[in-house]
Amino acid sequence: MNQFKSLKKYKCVITGGPTREWLDPVRFISNPSSGKMGIALADIAKKLFKETVFIHGPIEPAKIKNKKYKTISVETTEDMLNAVKNELEDNCILIMAAAPADYTPVSKEINKIKKSSDQLNIKLKKTTDILKTISEKLRNKYSNIITVGFAAETTNVENYGLKKLKDKKLDLICINDISKQGAGFQSDTNIMTIYTKSGSRFELPKLSKKKVAQEIFKIIVTT
Ligand code: CTP
Repeated sequence: MNQFKSLKKYKCVITGGPTREWLDPVRFISNPSSGKMGIALADIAKKLFKETVFIHGPIEPAKIKNKKYKTISVETTEDMLNAVKNELEDNCILIMAAAPADYTPVSKEINKIKKSSDQLNIKLKKTTDILKTISEKLRNKYSNIITVGFAAETTNVENYGLKKLKDKKLDLICINDISKQGAGFQSDTNIMTIYTKSGSRFELPKLSKKKVAQEIFKIIVTT
């Protein structure tokens, strides 16, 4: 654990799980993210950092029962953005393992949408990109903010992942081909390729999410 000593001055803010965007009182847009990767990271972070906070969308409550770090439950992508902003401070590592919904309805119906027509068109607008907002607007407000992103891809995996590293101005990107068996949403394992902003590349075999989390922290301290 000695190699991790340098992390003790940092706070670690980790996000996990999906977010939900409501169309009407009974329907929402979301995704199958389970929060497992975020929880695996937070469990290890608790031992390494000055303080650990886990901000999560709707996940099974049993998964975070009795955790010895602060957990914050949010619902929408906007809620997650606000929770992240509230937790950031100087000397902070933000790890965005969450899968925030990318689109939200232009307007949320107050009453249930009735199934009167055969086709239903719903107008959606982009949600705020949390990582991009932090990197572009808030990074300079604090000294020493490190940002780690995840990329869930099905095609052109490394290229798209590298584009996210650059576009979101990240320090590290953990790229995941979710079309592979044993990787991605709900799985207990992951198959990651990790890039640092300085161009180092690490290819991990199929590992438990706990082991992936350990590798991510090792890369953070050594690069
Ligand atoms: N992310 C974010 N805010 C969003 C959406 C995603 O901060 N509104 C973060 C995720 O937590 C992840 C990274 O951005 O760390 C990449 O997320 P991903 O879903 O792979 O990609 P998107 O940026 O949403 O782009 P696309 O869906 O086009 O692949």
